[in-house]
Amino acid sequence: MGVYQHLATIFGHTAGLSSSTGISWMCLAHPPTKERNIMRKKVTIVGAGNVGATAAHWIASKELADVVLIDVIDGVPQGKGLDLLESLPIEKRDVSVIGTNDYADTANSDIVVITAGIARKPGMSRDDLLNTNFNIMSDVAGKALAASPNAIFIIVSNPLDAMAQTAFKKLGLPRERVIGMAGVLDSARFRTFIAQELNVSVENVTAFVLGGHGDTMVPLSRYSTVAGIPITELIPADRLKELETRTANGGAEIVKYLKTGSAYYAPSAAAVEMVEAILKDKKKILPCAAYLQGEYGIKGLYVGVPCKLGAKGLEQIIEIKLTADEQTALNKSADAVKELCTVIGVA
Ligand SMILES: NC(=O)c1ccc[n+]([C@@H]2O[C@H](COP(=O)([O-])OP(=O)(O)OC[C@H]3O[C@@H](n4cnc5c(N)ncnc54)[C@H](O)[C@@H]3O)[C@@H](O)[C@H]2O)c1
Repeated sequence: MGVYQHLATIFGHTAGLSSSTGISWMCLAHPPTKERNIMRKKVTIVGAGNVGATAAHWIASKELADVVLIDVIDGVPQGKGLDLLESLPIEKRDVSVIGTNDYADTANSDIVVITAGIARKPGMSRDDLLNTNFNIMSDVAGKALAASPNAIFIIVSNPLDAMAQTAFKKLGLPRERVIGMAGVLDSARFRTFIAQELNVSVENVTAFVLGGHGDTMVPLSRYSTVAGIPITELIPADRLKELETRTANGGAEIVKYLKTGSAYYAPSAAAVEMVEAILKDKKKILPCAAYLQGEYGIKGLYVGVPCKLGAKGLEQIIEIKLTADEQTALNKSADAVKELCTVIGVA
């Protein structure tokens, strides 16, 4: 007699739940069923490459939701999904993870994270990915929405702001349900460099980065703190400038090392922080790419700004007062996003 049967016999008899085979799965916490436990949330990740698969890893290891990895390549999402699933007994996490090439498997997801597309190689800017990723985004966004009409979309593919704008236009959803990931990553990089510089816990450091995800991003040192103390009081201005520049070039720094691809641990962790804020209705303020409708003087464009994320997705855009220089830098960043959006016809 197998262990399930043995347990079922014991508990089934005492609880009077035995089926015709003498087995009742009702008495077992986690029956070996293929059916999804519909009480759990479901997150689909489109693109089972480095960022997508690592995002699946973070979600499963935090036990946030069931995960579906979908990709155009046959076998890769299935293999990575199964491999990740087989790690969960060790990690003591009960979620389902599957890989697929079929959108039917993604049905009724609560959140769809889109990471599909090509990534940068050395010498390439994010903007070099524009046309290829525009075609991929146009293809996958509609398919994912058809399967999950109530999902909230988190866009990760680059060039980020232009891809978020593409998804927004293709999906036709309210802006609350289409949010771009960039600022969480950029500010995490800034926080890392500040913590290293001052030799303090990363937990003590908050940092804000505004604007598009690119060379024109605007790290806001004035609003960045260590245990509540503005970093402008802790780090000399010229050194701070160096950390800001390193942050703006943070993606390229990793690409240069990797040579065959771009960063994925921090990017996927950043996307999953957004997923968690939404699934847990945390009302967390995070820098995200949002479709601005006049906020910060910008209209009809995805740009990185402080956002409140909760169960409804983007629940609020927080407007902070910028200095003239900061506003000029933000406008410049928005102009760069607009230029890309114009090229692909989504401005
Ligand atoms: N927003 C950010 O801050 C940020 C950070 C890092 C990476 N990125 C971007 O995320 C994207 C993914 O990066 P990566 O390192 O995972 O790349 P990757 O090449 O490892 O993975 C991309 C995956 O997308 C898949 N794909 C391509 N077309 C598809 C389609 N039509 N449907 C489904 N899947 C498809 C590929 O087969 C591949 O598995 C890139 O565009 C990269 O630039 C963004």
